[in-house]
Amino acid sequence: MISERLKKQLSAGSQIRKMFEEGNRLKAIYGADKVYDFSIGNPDLEPPHEVSDALKELSNNPTPGMHGYMSNSGYESTRSAIAAKKSAESGLDIKSDAICMTVGAASAMNDVLHSLLDQDDEVIVIAPYFMEYNGYISNHGGKAVIVQTDDKFMPVISSIEAAITPRTKAIIINSPNNPSGVVYPSSLLSELNEMLKKQDHVVHVISDEPYIDLVYDGMTVPCALKYIDNLIVCFSWSKSLSLPGERIGYTLVSPKNEDYADLTAAIVLSNRTLGSVNAPAIWQRVIEKSLNAKVDVSNYENRRNLLYSNIIDAGFDAVKPNGALYIFMNTPEGLTDDKFSEICASKNLLLVKGSSFSRPGYCRLAFCVSESTIRNSRQAFFAIADELGLSHRASL
Ligand SMILES: Cc1ncc(COP(=O)(O)O)c(C=O)c1O
Repeated sequence: MISERLKKQLSAGSQIRKMFEEGNRLKAIYGADKVYDFSIGNPDLEPPHEVSDALKELSNNPTPGMHGYMSNSGYESTRSAIAAKKSAESGLDIKSDAICMTVGAASAMNDVLHSLLDQDDEVIVIAPYFMEYNGYISNHGGKAVIVQTDDKFMPVISSIEAAITPRTKAIIINSPNNPSGVVYPSSLLSELNEMLKKQDHVVHVISDEPYIDLVYDGMTVPCALKYIDNLIVCFSWSKSLSLPGERIGYTLVSPKNEDYADLTAAIVLSNRTLGSVNAPAIWQRVIEKSLNAKVDVSNYENRRNLLYSNIIDAGFDAVKPNGALYIFMNTPEGLTDDKFSEICASKNLLLVKGSSFSRPGYCRLAFCVSESTIRNSRQAFFAIADELGLSHRASL
C-alpha cells in the first residue's frame, strides 16, 4: 500500500504531462508541423561549445579516480571556482564551504528544505509559482502557504508579511520567474530583507535561480546575495548551459546567513541521505571548465519577441517577460483558463493553465520551441481571437 500523501499527489497528476501527451496524440493525427505545442519548458538549444570541449578534454585525459566517490559537497576545486565567481558578483567573501554541488536545482531545493523543515513547518510560495515546489515542500513534512503577486506578477511585501506565522521557516523566491518571466528589482529584494529583519524569528529566503542567465532587453538580474541576508541560493545549469538531462547544480548559503554553520553542514548531510550522495563527477569537472559560458540568449529573445507579437497582435493580453522561457498570457475576459485552453487545443495550440501555477485566469506558453513553430502558430492565435470576437491589433 503506498502512502496517503503519494496517493494524493498521483491523483492530482501533472497538467503539463497531460498536455505533452495530448501534443503527441495531435501530432500523430495532423503532423508535427500543424501542432503548436507551447506546453513544455524543455530548453531546446544545444549547449555552448565549451561544454563539448571540456567533455572531450576529460575523456582524452583520464586521471586515476576520476569516477570515484568524493566529499558529499563535491570537488573542492569546482566549489572554489564557483565561490570566486559568486564573490565577484556579490561583493561578499564566499568560501567554498558555502557551496554544495547538487543533482540540479530540484535536488538543491530538496536538500535545503530537508535541512530546514520539521513536521508542519510552513514555506511561503509566491504565486504564480513552479508547481513542483508543492512536492518538494511536502517531501519534508512542510506546508506550502500561497501568497499572490500583483497584476504585474510582482510580490507584495505586505501580503508576504501577513502570511508569516511562528511556523514559517522559509520563503521561496524565483526570479526570473517560471511561469511569469518577471525579474524582481533590487528595491523589492531590499524591501523583503527589511521586512524579514523585523520578524521575531529567522525566516530564510530560498532563491531558486535556474533562469538567472536567461534575461532579455539588455537586463541583468539583481544578485539576491547582495540584498538579502538570510539567503540560500539554489542554482542549476539546466537552462543556462542547456543541460537539464545531466542534472547538475548547487546550493550556496550566504555568509550573512545567521544559521550559516548549521545550514552548510545540514545541506551536505541531506545531499547524502536523500540519495544523491554527490553531484555527478564528470559534470562538476565540465562546469569548472565552462563556468562563464552560456547558451545564445539572443536566440530565446528572438523567439520571445515573435511569440509575444503573435499574442498581442491577435488581440490577447500578456505582461512581456524580461527573462526565463515563458509568456504568462491573460485568458480573455469571461473565460476560465480551463475553457480557454480547451479552445486553443481545438486549434492544435497547446498551453498550460494558470491554475497549474496557482494563478487561474492565465495560461503559460513556453517559447523554447523552434522559430518555425512560433511563426506557423500565428494564424492559430488569429483564428482563436476571431472565434472569441476579439479585435486584432495588427494584420496576420
Ligand atoms: C523554477 C524552477 N525551479 C527549479 C527547476 C528544476 O530545475 P532542474 O532541472 O535544475 O532540477 C525548474 C525546472 O524547470 C524550474 O522551472
